[in-house]
Amino acid sequence: MVNRDLLLEQARKAREQAYVPYSGFKVGAAVAAADGRVFTGCNIENAGYSPTNCAERTAIFKAISEGVREFAALAVVADTPGPCQPCGVCRQVLAEFFDDDVPIFLGNLAGEVEETRISKLLPNAFSAKSLEGTDK
Ligand code: THU
Repeated sequence: MVNRDLLLEQARKAREQAYVPYSGFKVGAAVAAADGRVFTGCNIENAGYSPTNCAERTAIFKAISEGVREFAALAVVADTPGPCQPCGVCRQVLAEFFDDDVPIFLGNLAGEVEETRISKLLPNAFSAKSLEGTDK
């Protein structure tokens, strides 16, 4: 069982590493693997703008590149008026790797937290199933 508040704290800490010279908007994320390992990430911006990587994807890609395939929870924190909402690209990446029983904790610096699931964030996602029975 993942400790929600600890994971949010790890996301909050990761946020401090954000490289955001263009937006100034810092985001932190922490993802817990099913084996208990935690990977953190921050957003990393680029002068070319589109190469920017969100905090969620930094954390998830770090985990995937270390062999993780099963996830237990994700926390995201930013200085937003309400809980920080993941962008559409991150939702698609979450849909690739997260089963629907994996809790996703969206938070902010004020301590507000929303718990959600990938099917709520991205209903009817395009997924591996969508490719079944096609020529690919
Ligand atoms: N960003 C994230 O890192 N995660 C989100 O959930 C929303 C947006 C980043 C991308 C960019 O560096 C900055 O926030 C402003 O869009």
